[in-house]
Amino acid sequence: MPLVPMRILLDHAAENNYGLAAFNVNNMEQIQAIMMAAEETESPVIVQASRGAREYTNDAYLRHLMLAAAELYPKLPIAMHQDHGNSPETCMSAIEQGFTSVMMDGSLAADGKTPATFEYNVKVTKQVVDAAHAKGVTVEGELGCLGGIEDGHGAGLTGEEAMKHLTDPAQAEDFVAKTGVDALAVAIGTSHGAYKFTKKPTGDVLVMSVIEEIHKRLPNCHLVMHGSSSVPKELLDIINKYGGQMKETYGVPVEEIQRGIKHGVRKINVDTDNRLAITGAIRKVYAEKPAEFDPRKYLSPAREAMKKVCVDRMVAFGQAGQAGKIKPITCKEMAAIYAKGGK
Ligand code: G3H
Ligand code: 13P
Ligand code: ZN
Repeated sequence: MPLVPMRILLDHAAENNYGLAAFNVNNMEQIQAIMMAAEETESPVIVQASRGAREYTNDAYLRHLMLAAAELYPKLPIAMHQDHGNSPETCMSAIEQGFTSVMMDGSLAADGKTPATFEYNVKVTKQVVDAAHAKGVTVEGELGCLGGIEDGHGAGLTGEEAMKHLTDPAQAEDFVAKTGVDALAVAIGTSHGAYKFTKKPTGDVLVMSVIEEIHKRLPNCHLVMHGSSSVPKELLDIINKYGGQMKETYGVPVEEIQRGIKHGVRKINVDTDNRLAITGAIRKVYAEKPAEFDPRKYLSPAREAMKKVCVDRMVAFGQAGQAGKIKPITCKEMAAIYAKGGK
């Protein structure tokens, strides 16, 4: 089946009280790992690519890899999403490349770093909603800013600063009404990357109550959790056992995500956990078989390690077993629904 608008996956998840992992990809093995996990668990799929991923892969490779996934797994509904679009131009170029969903991240200025004003955010997000919905493409917006990033991606706020940029529930209501977004990413104290929390997070740093408050005000809006890797100790340990130097760190516990799913969270972004799994598996081969130089000998276990993370998340978030229950529609059909004022 052709790639589907992400909105139909989110709607089905909301009607049936589950969440969907959105996994970032940068290469063929990561796409294969997600699709193998989805087939095994009969899960609907959200694959997402950051601007950096599109630059790394070159849009053409990425587009054809996604078409290959759709061809190889015709029974699985798959949405392709632009992660953290920094401008309407980025979102429009993703739509031209066949993405069926885009994130206009107007919480930050076009530099992808500076926190932007509410007015700017509304303006660029509404612009993308109008253009994307005309083509049946889903739009995710973001209000509030995530915490510090060790790799320079995002606002780079310290934990303390990030707490001042949590999503304001009343403003969220206003934002959704003014923009018409299909989904809203919220800031609740998480950050991208491996170094999120210095100990297992409690409600003062991972503020799940913000989600509950927003869901009360916006019961029909699909909420998105970014920076939601769980950073399992087992994955850090494998990396360190084979020569890595990961410091002690904590992610977002799966049970907190499950709590979010009970309160309107439908999309959960996971990148770091897969990066950790891949890195650990490759390090293990390098350490145990230093004479090995066939990339397939380390990329196969890496793909398998990522597949395991994807299976675990698909089961934990409740998307497992749901693929066959979703009635797929095309972006063209979705555009007609939006044009009639639906959704
Ligand atoms: O938004 C953060 C994702 O983990 C993507 O990261 O920009 O390094 O591809 P990236
Ligand atoms: P993690 O770094 O926690 O995996 O978050 C990824 C993300 O939010 C992508 O947008
Ligand atoms: Zn993110």
